[in-house]
Amino acid sequence: MTIMHDSSNPFPETVDRIFTHCRMATMAKGTYSIMENAALAVYGKKIAWIGPMDALPETLGTTWVTDCQNLWILPGFVDCHTHLIWAGSRAKEFEMRLAGASYAEIAKAGGGIVSTVRATRAASENTLFDLAAGRMAHLLTQGITTVEIKSGYGLDLESELKMLAVAGRLQKSCPQQVEATFLGAHALPPEFSDRPDDYIRHVTEAMLPGVKDQGIATAVDVFCENIAFSREQTRQVFEKALDAGFAIKLHAEQLSDSDGTALAAQLGALSCDHLEYLSLKGVQKMAAHDTVAVLLPGAFYYLRETRVPPVDSLRLMNVPIAVSTDLNPGSSPVHSMTPVLNMACLLFGLTCEQALAGATIHAAKALGLADCKGSLAPGKDADLVIWDVDTPADLCYPVGITPVKMVVIGGKTAYTRM
Ligand code: NIG
Ligand code: FE
Repeated sequence: MTIMHDSSNPFPETVDRIFTHCRMATMAKGTYSIMENAALAVYGKKIAWIGPMDALPETLGTTWVTDCQNLWILPGFVDCHTHLIWAGSRAKEFEMRLAGASYAEIAKAGGGIVSTVRATRAASENTLFDLAAGRMAHLLTQGITTVEIKSGYGLDLESELKMLAVAGRLQKSCPQQVEATFLGAHALPPEFSDRPDDYIRHVTEAMLPGVKDQGIATAVDVFCENIAFSREQTRQVFEKALDAGFAIKLHAEQLSDSDGTALAAQLGALSCDHLEYLSLKGVQKMAAHDTVAVLLPGAFYYLRETRVPPVDSLRLMNVPIAVSTDLNPGSSPVHSMTPVLNMACLLFGLTCEQALAGATIHAAKALGLADCKGSLAPGKDADLVIWDVDTPADLCYPVGITPVKMVVIGGKTAYTRM
C-alpha cells in the first residue's frame, strides 16, 4: 500500500471500511465544515480517518469500499428528547384541541399525559416493546442514529420500571444507541391527586432507588410547569438524582416562566428543553453553566403556541442550541427529524446550518455524548448518513421526503436504499 503525502493526517495502517467520493458536512464545532471530494475510513466502530480522495493509498487491498458517488455524508441525527415508549392514541384530544380546548385544559380535565398513562399502565411490557421497536425502526429510516427515551407514562414504580425495561430491550435490539431517562415527575398520577408533595416524596424515596437498582436510566428529567411540578419540587428531585449519580435535564418554561432553567443550570443540568417562556436571566444562567438549550418546534407547532423561544439571546450568549422531535403521542407526534429542522428554521428562525448543528453536535452534547457522537471526526463513533441531496440545506427545506441513501451506525450499515 502506498501511503500518502499529508503527514499531519496520515492514512491509518489498518481500516475496515472506506467511504469514497463523498461530500461531507462534518458539523465539527457546530458549523457545516464542508469537505468536497473526500473519503472517510472506519476502524472497528470508530471513524479512523477523514481526508481528501487524493490522499487515499493507491491500493486499498481487501478493504470494504462504499463509493458515495459524490453524495453528502453528515453525522447521524441525535434525537436528544423523546417519549418514544407509549400505548394508546391521543387523536381524539387532537380533535378537541382543534375545537378550541387548550393543552392545559385537557390536562386539567384528566386527559393529556394522564390519558397516555392509563393506556401505558394497561399495556404489557411486550406490547410496549413491539410498539416502541416499530417507532425505532422508522426513526432509523429517517437518519436518526442515537435516541434519548424518557419514561414518564407509568408514574408508579412498577410501570416506570416497565417502561425503562423496554428502553433496556431497545438498547440491546436496535442498532441505534439508546439513552434512557427517568421522568417520574412528568405529571401527577390520579392516585396522588391534590398531593403533589407526597408524589414527589414517592418519586425521590421509592422510585429513584428502584430506577437506580434497575441500572438502565442514566439521567433524570422533571416537567417544571404550572400544570406539573414547582421549582421547589424540581429541586428536591434533582438533589436526590444528583446524589444517586444521575445526570439531570429539565422540561422548562414551555407554557409559562417557572424559572426552572436557572435552577437546573446551576445544578449542572445537561440541558433545558422547550424554553418558549425562557427569561433573559435564564439565558444568562444557561450560558454561565454551559447548559444546552433543546428547542422542540414540533410541540410548539402542535400546541399552536405563539411565543417563540428567545433564539437571538441564546445565540448572543453562545448557548448551544439543539433541536429534537420530542416524539410523543400528545404534544409532538413527529416521527422524523427533517420536518423538525424545517420547523426550527421557519418557526424559530434558525439557519439551516444551526438547525443541522442542533440535530447533531449540540444534541450529542445535550446527552453528554459530545466526545463520541454528533460530528464526523477521527475517534468519534462511525454513525453517519449518506444523503441524496445537492446541499445540506436540502435536509431543512422540503417536507415529506427523507432522501436517506444509507444509515451507518458504529461502522455497520444499519439501513440502506443504495
Ligand atoms: O415534552 N411537556 C411535557 N411533556 C411532553 C408532552 C407529553 C404528552 O403530552 O404526552 C412534551 O411536550
Ligand atoms: Fe418532552
